[in-house]
Amino acid sequence: MKKTLIKNGTVVTATDTAAADILIEGEKIAAIGRDLFHSPDTTVDATGCYVIPGGIDAHTHLDLPFMGTSSSDDFETGTRAALFGGTTSIIDFAFQTQGRSLKEGLATWREKAAGRAIADYGFHIAVTDFNPTVHQEVRDLIEKDGVTSFKTFMAYKGALMIDDKQMIGLMNEVKKWGGLVTVHAENGDLADSLIQQNCEAKNLAPKFHALSRPEIVESEATGRAIDIAYAGGHPLYVVHMTCEGALNRVREATKRNQTVLVETCVQYLLLDDSVYERPGFEGSKWVMSPPIRKPKDQTALWNGIDQGLVHTVATDHCPFCLDQKAMGKDDFSKIPNGAPGIEHRMELMHSEGVVKNRITLNRFVDLNCTAPAKIFGLYPKKGSLSVGSDADIVIFDPKVQHTISQSTHHMRCDYSAYEGWKVQGKVRTVYLRGTCAIDKGQVLIGKGFGQYLPRKKFKE
Ligand code: URP
Ligand code: ZN
Ligand code: ZN
Repeated sequence: MKKTLIKNGTVVTATDTAAADILIEGEKIAAIGRDLFHSPDTTVDATGCYVIPGGIDAHTHLDLPFMGTSSSDDFETGTRAALFGGTTSIIDFAFQTQGRSLKEGLATWREKAAGRAIADYGFHIAVTDFNPTVHQEVRDLIEKDGVTSFKTFMAYKGALMIDDKQMIGLMNEVKKWGGLVTVHAENGDLADSLIQQNCEAKNLAPKFHALSRPEIVESEATGRAIDIAYAGGHPLYVVHMTCEGALNRVREATKRNQTVLVETCVQYLLLDDSVYERPGFEGSKWVMSPPIRKPKDQTALWNGIDQGLVHTVATDHCPFCLDQKAMGKDDFSKIPNGAPGIEHRMELMHSEGVVKNRITLNRFVDLNCTAPAKIFGLYPKKGSLSVGSDADIVIFDPKVQHTISQSTHHMRCDYSAYEGWKVQGKVRTVYLRGTCAIDKGQVLIGKGFGQYLPRKKFKE
């Protein structure tokens, strides 16, 4: 078995920081310690760099048919871009088509990814129609397919949304077999009614997307989902949380000892709703749901991380090129919802989080790597630097300064949500299951290297 020794780096985990060497043997981490005495095939000098676990982005949408088009990154281009940014595993969403089975949805997405994905990947299943057949499928998905998390939409009525009764039924079934329900918490009826009002008033510019989905749309649905979960004694994971109001519903729930896990996304921590005031149609670049919020919400989210109320940072990577965004040129409600981000999550969180003293280095690792692995049943195979774990390792140079741009990124999207942002800290080298995947700006592995990740039950 090939042996690689990473020497002289600072090993950083979710809990510890230490000067140590890491020995990789084959696909696994074989040893961690000071001055390891081995005769490796390759020695890599990580002087001045952090050595961290490969990142896990638990919220991506590659090759997703949505709002009359498809997200522009497929499993090859999207996972390649992820690797450049130090993300070695993703959990994407397989969607059930309303009236069809979950199995069909999963099979469709496994086909999209197999032979294409370069990084490792698993799936949540998006349940868009909880009918009696679906009821029967939940156990198999969890126990046979390793799909242990189920996404529900409280918005996008007619396409993705399920009602409260269906959500209750799903939560009951998922709990029986040890899975976790996750929720896109927006009140779909309220959003639809505000969209209609704005369209009737001829308020059609991109900023009216955000104005049709104000904070209350999200905080009401978040509170309702939390209450429904509480009534049944279920854990709940809230995806892409954006705002103070929703976070306060979580804060309330902790007072009754309820388990509510919260994901936010980089864009909600770093951007504010002034993006919708950009000239012309430019605001469409940030049309996503929920929308980008106000500076007070960014503050609330950073504080939420500090207070332990926010557990993971993902991207909700769902890119559309500008000609796709232009589908809504004359009507914001037709702009495909989503933005690119998979490539820059780790570097942005380091630069804006660690360098600016908003989070510690260990918390950075926890939010981006370890907590998603633990919550979604991948730990300690993924998200960990331990003997026996997959050798998914990032050598990260915290001193390198660079500028994010569409002209240099690897995502298949003709704009960047962070164009011109100056960032401190850059991914230098990435190992995926012991193989050097990225080094000094070059990708060294190809299409199909990524493996499917069956996941364990919640808290198993
Ligand atoms: O705008 C978004 N977030 N697009 C992707 C679908 C979703 O709701 O996560
Ligand atoms: Zn969503
Ligand atoms: Zn999403």
